[in-house]
Amino acid sequence: MFESLINKESKLAVLGLGYVGLPVALGFAKSISVIGFDISSKRIDLLKQQIDPSNEISASGFDNCDITFTDDLAVLRQASFFIVAVPTPVDNHNVPDLRLLALASETIGKILKKGDYVVFESTTYPGCTEEDCLPIIEKWSGLKVKTDFKLGYSPERINPGDKEHTLDKIIKVVSGCDKESLDEIAKVYSIAAKAGIHKAPTIKVAEAAKIIENTQRDVNIALMNELSLIFQLMGVNTYDVIEAASTKWNFLKFYPGLVGGHCISVDPYYLTYKANALGYEPEVITSGRRINDDMGPYIARRTVQLLTQLGKDPGKSKVLVMGATFKENITDLRNSKVVDLVNELKLFSLQVEVTDPHASGEEVLQQYGFSLVKQVAKDYDAVILAVNHAAFNKMDEDYFLSITRPNALFMDVKGVFRNKITRMTYWSL
Ligand SMILES: NC(=O)c1ccc[n+]([C@@H]2O[C@H](COP(=O)([O-])OP(=O)(O)OC[C@H]3O[C@@H](n4cnc5c(N)ncnc54)[C@H](O)[C@@H]3O)[C@@H](O)[C@H]2O)c1
Repeated sequence: MFESLINKESKLAVLGLGYVGLPVALGFAKSISVIGFDISSKRIDLLKQQIDPSNEISASGFDNCDITFTDDLAVLRQASFFIVAVPTPVDNHNVPDLRLLALASETIGKILKKGDYVVFESTTYPGCTEEDCLPIIEKWSGLKVKTDFKLGYSPERINPGDKEHTLDKIIKVVSGCDKESLDEIAKVYSIAAKAGIHKAPTIKVAEAAKIIENTQRDVNIALMNELSLIFQLMGVNTYDVIEAASTKWNFLKFYPGLVGGHCISVDPYYLTYKANALGYEPEVITSGRRINDDMGPYIARRTVQLLTQLGKDPGKSKVLVMGATFKENITDLRNSKVVDLVNELKLFSLQVEVTDPHASGEEVLQQYGFSLVKQVAKDYDAVILAVNHAAFNKMDEDYFLSITRPNALFMDVKGVFRNKITRMTYWSL
């Protein structure tokens, strides 16, 4: 397979051209022939014009790439090595929603040929590739894994907004259904993943590795969030404490905050779902999830308490929330926890305005039902710095004073203006 891909006698296809799939497809297309397949024809139209709808890759990132963008199965059929990077969200009850993964497996099953390779990159629980996806592929193709085609899993570490840890600069974990496929998949991935390959012994190990990377972050952040709730009662600033503690050689630096997005706040639910299915009820992971998920409403409640202490009537107070995306310096709004903060503030009858230099106002309205303000007002009773965008970091206390009424509150979720706000009532996690 490696030889025929390198010699351009075979093609590699990537299914799902979002945050993960597009950079993977372009990474391979610098060296081999690639078919970029997506069910969204709107996305395919934009990609053909070298526009990345996720705003992660500039037009020059498409230069010198041998890639065909398509939503047509007849074109996809020309590939022999398939990589699946479709979304794996959870539903409203935080249960894994495997519908898109199942659909992608069916699509591949319909066009699979003897000798082909299928590698899943979508994040999922250990066992999903072999127990949930494989039977669908075998059913629709009539082919048998190992003898007719090969299966693998390679987790993705792409981090939206991060230009440092890109596919070509990070170690890529790969796995296969047998020794032969593991070696071949490793060789194929080395075409794009130049920093090195780690061969995991089984598909399940590779699936588990990905899920614990994010679960570990989630639990560590939850600990910091819990500590910040405790330190609040003690009148101690959490960021001051972390700064002091991190002078110790083996202290792990994590910070409190809102945990949104489609990875850290979602992946642990895939693990807990599977653990539950196997009869084990996780405690640490689920309590961490609960703590992190309550941070938005908690910050809203603290805002109301502090406004009241300042003698302001919450029902007559106006608040500016700065930032709507799930983290700093990106446009991605998926699963943003700022929304929980905004909704809770509204439950207390506060007048809430939201501003964000990166997010699309149209998408915010569509996804969350509120608008972004184009022009910031000058009469806020509180400013909540919810997302640490670089553009906000450049602002100073004079600016915040110029947009607020006298005796205003500054809620600094990420603690970036610690020791810099002295003329307003300051709070941070
Ligand atoms: N975004 C990240 O930072 C990140 C990092 C590591 C892993 N992951 C994982 O990678 C997977 C993809 O995430 P993403 O952020 O790239 O998603 P995304 O929403 O950015 O993009 C997914 C794309 O897949 C397309 N799609 C959906 N179903 C399809 C199908 N059946 N066939 C073809 N295309 C289909 C969608 O139209 C969309 O363009 C998820 O499992 C996610 O958990 C994401």
